[in-house]
Amino acid sequence: MEIKTIGVIGAGTMGSGIAQVAAEAGFNVIMRDLEEQFVQRGLTAVEKNLARAVEKGRKSQSEADAVRGRISGTTRLEDLSEADFIIEAIIENMALKKELYEKLDAICKEETVLASNTSGLSITEMASATKRPQKVVGMHFFNPVPVMKLVEVIKGFDTAAETFDLTMELARQMGKEPIAVNEAPLFAVNRILVPMINEAAFVLMEGVATAEDIDRGMMLGANHPIGPLALGDLVGLDVLLAVMETIYHETGDSKYRPCPLIRKLVRAGHFGRKTGRGFYSYT
Ligand code: CAA
Repeated sequence: MEIKTIGVIGAGTMGSGIAQVAAEAGFNVIMRDLEEQFVQRGLTAVEKNLARAVEKGRKSQSEADAVRGRISGTTRLEDLSEADFIIEAIIENMALKKELYEKLDAICKEETVLASNTSGLSITEMASATKRPQKVVGMHFFNPVPVMKLVEVIKGFDTAAETFDLTMELARQMGKEPIAVNEAPLFAVNRILVPMINEAAFVLMEGVATAEDIDRGMMLGANHPIGPLALGDLVGLDVLLAVMETIYHETGDSKYRPCPLIRKLVRAGHFGRKTGRGFYSYT
């Protein structure tokens, strides 16, 4: 099956990054969000990244214009009917995702693959809301999408080998390096990474070390590019908490309990970089 048009649902940090790399790879992209202001914010994020690439000499102005020209924004879900492949990057809420997948199943062409960028929710459960579970797959990008090379491709219970292979190939065409993962809570990478950030929050909460020293420790002692607390702020503490809750509930294992400090910060509306405050302040 030839993919020409990719539909991206959700124009947030992940959705806009995915739209950008898809357009850079030559695909036409239709990016959809619920409100015009969200669509515009996503398009502005892409434009900023492209302007920076031109400034740095990585792209010519005409190349950047061509990439931008391949992305259109919409609030109408029906506009995705012409997409050959859908990448969903909406909020991590299974009920909302299932409602969306049911609608997409009715709107999209029969052969269209529905891929989720979820950080760890069940692909099988999303697929159960459709009549095409063999065409539902996980395609998990990493933040910031234009920079990070990895895509986890996740096989749900009924995902067909053909769908899986197509998604692996698409990830390569988008300039990424895919790894193959069987469905399990949080997949492979977040299963390791997110509990590490959660543990760093416990170390901070217990007063074992300051935020700066925890992060410096992991950068200097384990060669991480940024420390775990700074990474939590980058990913978003709201996302992180939702991801920890998923693995905690799915496994019932107390080793995955979310750190109360993360819960408290989220309740206070301090989600990290995107709200200007998380473990650190960004002013
Ligand atoms: N979009 C596009 N490009 C970006 C960017 C963004 N949001 N953020 C940074 N970059 C680019 C910068 O433009 C810069 O490129 P140039 O040098 O060509 O200008 C380059 O990345 C390096 O950026 P900086 O010099 O500003 O900062 P840095 O050296 O600290 O690198 C980083 C930034 C690449 C994000 C680095 O800190 C890093 O690798 N951090 C770890 C990221 C990580 O672990 N991500 C996974 C998160 S977990 C996840 O995503 C899964 C999930 O489901 C929760």
